Amino acid sequence: MKNFIQHHPWKVIEETFHPLWNRVSESLFSLGNGNMGHRGNFEEGYSGETLQGHYVAGVYYPDKTRVGWWKIGYPEYFAKVLNAPAWIGIGIELDEEPVDLARMKVERFWRELDMRTGTLTRTFAATTAGGKAVEVTACRFCSMARKELGLIRYRLTSKNFNGRITLTLDADADVKNQDANYDEKFWREVSRKVTDQYIIITAATLKTDFHVSTGTAYRIFLNGKPVSLQPEIAEREKYAAHRISIAVQAGDTIEIVKYGVIASSFNHSKQNVELHCHRLLDELRGIPFEQLHNEHIQRWEEIWRDCDITIEGDAAAQQGIRFAIFHLMQTYTGEDERLNIGPKGFTGEKYGGSTYWDTEAYCLPFYMSTAGQHVARNLLLYRYRHLPKAIENARKLGFENGAALYPMVTMNGEECHNEWEITFEEIHRNGAIAYAIYDYVRYTGDEEYLTDYGLEVLLALSRFWSQRVNWSDAKGGYVMLGVTGPNEYENNVNNNWYTNYIARWTLTYTLEVLAWARKHAGDKTRALTEKAGLRADEEKCWQDIIEKLYLPEDPTRGIFLQQDGFLDKELRTVDSLKPAERPLNQHWSWDRILRSCFIKQADVLQGLYFFEDHFDREVIRKNFDFYEPMTVHESSLSPCVHAILACSLGYLHKAYEMFLRTARLDLDDYNNDTEDGLHVTSMAGTWMSLVKGFGGMRVKDGRLYLNPIVPGPWQSYSFRILFRNRVLRITAKQGTEATVKLESGNPIEIQLGDKILNVQ
Ligand code: BGC
Repeated sequence: MKNFIQHHPWKVIEETFHPLWNRVSESLFSLGNGNMGHRGNFEEGYSGETLQGHYVAGVYYPDKTRVGWWKIGYPEYFAKVLNAPAWIGIGIELDEEPVDLARMKVERFWRELDMRTGTLTRTFAATTAGGKAVEVTACRFCSMARKELGLIRYRLTSKNFNGRITLTLDADADVKNQDANYDEKFWREVSRKVTDQYIIITAATLKTDFHVSTGTAYRIFLNGKPVSLQPEIAEREKYAAHRISIAVQAGDTIEIVKYGVIASSFNHSKQNVELHCHRLLDELRGIPFEQLHNEHIQRWEEIWRDCDITIEGDAAAQQGIRFAIFHLMQTYTGEDERLNIGPKGFTGEKYGGSTYWDTEAYCLPFYMSTAGQHVARNLLLYRYRHLPKAIENARKLGFENGAALYPMVTMNGEECHNEWEITFEEIHRNGAIAYAIYDYVRYTGDEEYLTDYGLEVLLALSRFWSQRVNWSDAKGGYVMLGVTGPNEYENNVNNNWYTNYIARWTLTYTLEVLAWARKHAGDKTRALTEKAGLRADEEKCWQDIIEKLYLPEDPTRGIFLQQDGFLDKELRTVDSLKPAERPLNQHWSWDRILRSCFIKQADVLQGLYFFEDHFDREVIRKNFDFYEPMTVHESSLSPCVHAILACSLGYLHKAYEMFLRTARLDLDDYNNDTEDGLHVTSMAGTWMSLVKGFGGMRVKDGRLYLNPIVPGPWQSYSFRILFRNRVLRITAKQGTEATVKLESGNPIEIQLGDKILNVQ
């Protein structure tokens, strides 16, 4: 855990330069706008430790699978989020010496991300080995108002240097992914247009042939006055730059305003990408920085007005929750149902593809309550559109009759994960997809979704589960062998309670929805079941599995068993581990981890969180008390679920600890892996820990239910949610009763604690 980010309610601040943690900071200071994003790389370049990262939504590369032992069923490729062409470069030479913080004496350094305005600012004072001193203030944003635009204002003052400053203003498509199976570059050049005014490089991804045009233009000012200098053009394949040399005296300030436009064939026809980029660049480069910045700030103001959460009395928590909301909003804006939320968003390459079960299990509630029903529906439709591929995926593994197995990781519906214990065995992801349909309908009341789309998905999921179980004479029930539950620190286990439970629930829910649909939309349902070829004996078989599916438990302890063999393990609690052994995945052999009782993330408890109404409090308590002390929370998705359960069990101290852990996971680098990118999907869990945890938000029988509690260190907190065409503000203060205010929409009856209120 690191502690170098200053606590501030609206800003992320790094007060001094930490070269050793530069990659962590690059992740923390990432910017995006739903369409593109950049890590916090330095404009002037950096020869020290860095992970260069620029990303364009929907653009990926299918990197041919590389494994030691090929297993039938493996996908041919792993879809990689691509490090895309960069436009941010502003190289600087002071006579012959480069401005490069890795090689300079840094006297002063300050970097701040203002989350209120979505603006990244960095100032430093540094001196070269030859004694040339400069001061720099670089400010940049990724426009939320114009999704294909990014802008930089870079000011450099010479402190003591009289000579020539040479600027290299470039666009660079000659980039590499750190994560490349065959050490190849994934881009080829399509065209390169370089004039005295601008540079546009169009590059295409190998195999997938996405075309991306990266255009850049700039304006330069010397001591506030525009200067127009003839650039020297430097070009090579996939790269072009303008080199400009300016004579300066000590005290002079050069300002560069650099425009970056990214257009991709994900949104435009290939023939038009370059033209579109050109037109946009022409249109935008005449507009002053301030004007474009103001538009962007205004958009952020609107976002914050709709979904800010305030916490009084705890700057660390306040910063953490805003950091989460900020990143979620700049990763996915919900207009395009082809897009999704990658675990790293636009902040790193790790995890490859864009969609995991994280979307359904964690992100959906956040977007449903803050961005609204249509955005949540788009997230569901994403999976609906991928149903044929999920059926194909299951078929490859030997399943029949329209059974669907959704991929563990995907970009376009195809599986692209290739570790057998996860690809073939971590099948609980199918359960989260069914649960999301239920969660969406429960929250929005949009029952039509079921007959239009949801039921078709549910039928295919139920077919999968019914073929994945087998009858066991020994157990006298159906069992599910060889799975990996959410806890990836155990593989190939039998009867993972969570997976069995969510499978059984999916079958039950499918039959319920089927019965409801037959009653309410008979013709549509008949057409649907005929199309799916659903047979009466399938429904009977599902019912039989519901009644006879084996669920491991230990009646003596009153707990559900994570899997059949869990109690054979040496049971130890996390407090018996030495700090130097944590995180386990960076210190223990995998073999040791797999045999240990230590749990990566909520597993049985994930089920109790999803289905809390199925269990009484004492059962939840016993399971929490048993499993939480063995949980190392080495998945970012873990602390939030524990925070929510701890709140409902009245374990306020634990809930607060878990809240800080999820809210500050990246800010304090708890798991020592923020350098690879931020844990964006888990940030939705941070939001859930506050709203569902402390706020106690639930929906029961179509009614909104709230039960706010205020953790000790906080004076108050307040959040806003969208619920069935209403906007509600919930405020909870220490020592007084919480309030719910209707900010727009018709009066609504809700439950606050044990009281029914008519909010108007
Ligand atoms: C977790 C998975 C998660 C993935 C992406 C893994 O570390 O164990 O549950 O889906 O990260 O966030």
